Amino acid sequence: MTNVPRHVAITMDGNGRWATAHGVPRAAGHRAGLKPTRMAIQECARRGVEALTLFAFSSENWNRPPDEVSSLMTLFVDSLDREIDELHANRVRVRFIGDRKLLSVRLQARIAAAEQRTAANDGLKLQIAMSYGGRWDIVQAAQELARQCSSGSIRAADIDEARFASLLQLAGVPDADLMIRTGGEQRISNFLLWHGAYAELYFSPVLWPEFDVAELEAAFAFFGGRERRFGLTQAQLAAGEAMKVREP
Ligand code: FPP
Repeated sequence: MTNVPRHVAITMDGNGRWATAHGVPRAAGHRAGLKPTRMAIQECARRGVEALTLFAFSSENWNRPPDEVSSLMTLFVDSLDREIDELHANRVRVRFIGDRKLLSVRLQARIAAAEQRTAANDGLKLQIAMSYGGRWDIVQAAQELARQCSSGSIRAADIDEARFASLLQLAGVPDADLMIRTGGEQRISNFLLWHGAYAELYFSPVLWPEFDVAELEAAFAFFGGRERRFGLTQAQLAAGEAMKVREP
């Protein structure tokens, strides 16, 4: 397949509504979300996507009812335990982005172990966003730059986009090319505010537990049909200028 996005980011929305529609608890909806999550990882790896970032739990999700938060945290620990061998066997490099100190000690330990174990893998770069918010990400980078300025190790004039990006959670991962959101809402909801600057946005009405290969295929086909201009004219694009804008 031509024109494969380098970096796909997915907001996996609609588990709760799927659960309600099926008359089961919301936690069961989140469990049903594991099947499409595995599918998305497998399919992206198979198609040669370089990086996949999944929005599993936002900074704002902490405000959900405590029993839902706790069932999600248990699901994350259990699924990491269950999936890590297979991810590693498939050379997937797993990293977590977000404010991990807010997560339970148990989950933090699983995360550190998964990251360490897969760090040298050369396959799909899988980022799982947990306790993540795009604004939080930008603020923590700004704080670090302020610290560096006040300690005298850099001057304000040294701050450019590359230095800023190097302090964001996705440092080293290319910008998102395709951002998919399921569940019918057409919002960014504080996901990748920096790396999504030029992403193509694909909104699917399908609830996440029902998102299947055909749906993912439709998102890729949408991406394949887009003309990405990065602020340039069509004539400049034809002359091959886009790469200079993307990777200065
Ligand atoms: C949003 O649906 C979904 C979540 C907050 C949880 C997503 C988590 C998974 C699919 C499990 C993935 C697991 C790993 C380890 C990556 P919602 O609850 O907001 O749905 P609603 O809008 O219908 O209420």
